Amino acid sequence: MSNPIEQVRDEALQTLEKAKDSKTLGDWRSKYLGRRGAVAKLFGEIGALPQAERAAFGRQVNALQSELNTAFEQREALIQSHALALDLEEGEIDISLPAHPRRRGGLHPSTRTHREFQAIWADMGFHVYQSRDVEEDDLNFTLLNLPPHHPARDMQDTFYTADSRVLLRTHTSPGQIRAMRDLGDGGSKPIRVILPGMCYRQEQITARSEIQFTQVEGLAIGRNIRMSDLKGTIAEFAKRMYNPKAKVRFRASYFPFTEPSMEVDVECFLCSGEGCRVCKYTGWLEIAGSGMVHPTVLRNGGYDPSEWSGFAFGMGPERITMLKHGIQDIRYFWSNDLRFLQQF
Ligand code: DAH
Repeated sequence: MSNPIEQVRDEALQTLEKAKDSKTLGDWRSKYLGRRGAVAKLFGEIGALPQAERAAFGRQVNALQSELNTAFEQREALIQSHALALDLEEGEIDISLPAHPRRRGGLHPSTRTHREFQAIWADMGFHVYQSRDVEEDDLNFTLLNLPPHHPARDMQDTFYTADSRVLLRTHTSPGQIRAMRDLGDGGSKPIRVILPGMCYRQEQITARSEIQFTQVEGLAIGRNIRMSDLKGTIAEFAKRMYNPKAKVRFRASYFPFTEPSMEVDVECFLCSGEGCRVCKYTGWLEIAGSGMVHPTVLRNGGYDPSEWSGFAFGMGPERITMLKHGIQDIRYFWSNDLRFLQQF
């Protein structure tokens, strides 16, 4: 008589060939591979064997077990694919049923506003210059004409790294110096860029102020750039961004890196200047700080201020996004709450 392992193997493989559905397949599995199946029984016989034969016998039963497992899986896959083919043929799967909807992600409301900004500025000939979030103290302050004792340099307002000369930029303006040095070719080439990015300030977090927010800086340097260029450019932006009839007004202001400096208001796009709660009944919304680039800043960027001039502006897209969508609390922006984000 051939050896009992071979016998189980031959019989098992032969019957497996005949299994045509999952029921027979299941029965086969318990008959041969189950807890009381043929293979288990062979394992049980090991103890009765002479010591010298046990190891070899055990190895063979192990090999048989894995061979039968593999054969079972192959057979199962075959039966399943047959069943699927049959179903398809008989039309049991209704391919006209609507598919499960796929949930797609959306763009962050701030990203959307940034893309609108960028498209408009790109159309007006400004390209995007990517500056850095981690910035040198000199670029963020000193080279922008903010002297060492300036209150904005206070530890209370700025996030410094362990190295006190390195900080998280508090505005996108240091990118002006980087853009001039990088693109100006030693102060010999005109520049027209916008610099979008995240800024950081060590503030009390409230519904109106966050420790991080984005800005879009703008910079144009050329040989004959005048204040009228700044006013015309911003007015054109406002028309494209808010409404084709949007009026803008410029108010004298002060920024250390521009001279003269102006704040820019656009006619409230919610009440068309009539006065409403959003514009605090003034009819105007503040959209930017701006001015003619200070001669010191031009010099720090490598330009000779007797030959070159330029304008700059800084805008805060979050506020515009909040007004547009009626978002009441700036803390929603970076708290990653899906209930908020999924609305966009
Ligand atoms: N950096 C200023 C701020 O964070 C905004 C600003 C004002 C930028 C005037 C400019 C500018 O380029 O000309 O408040």
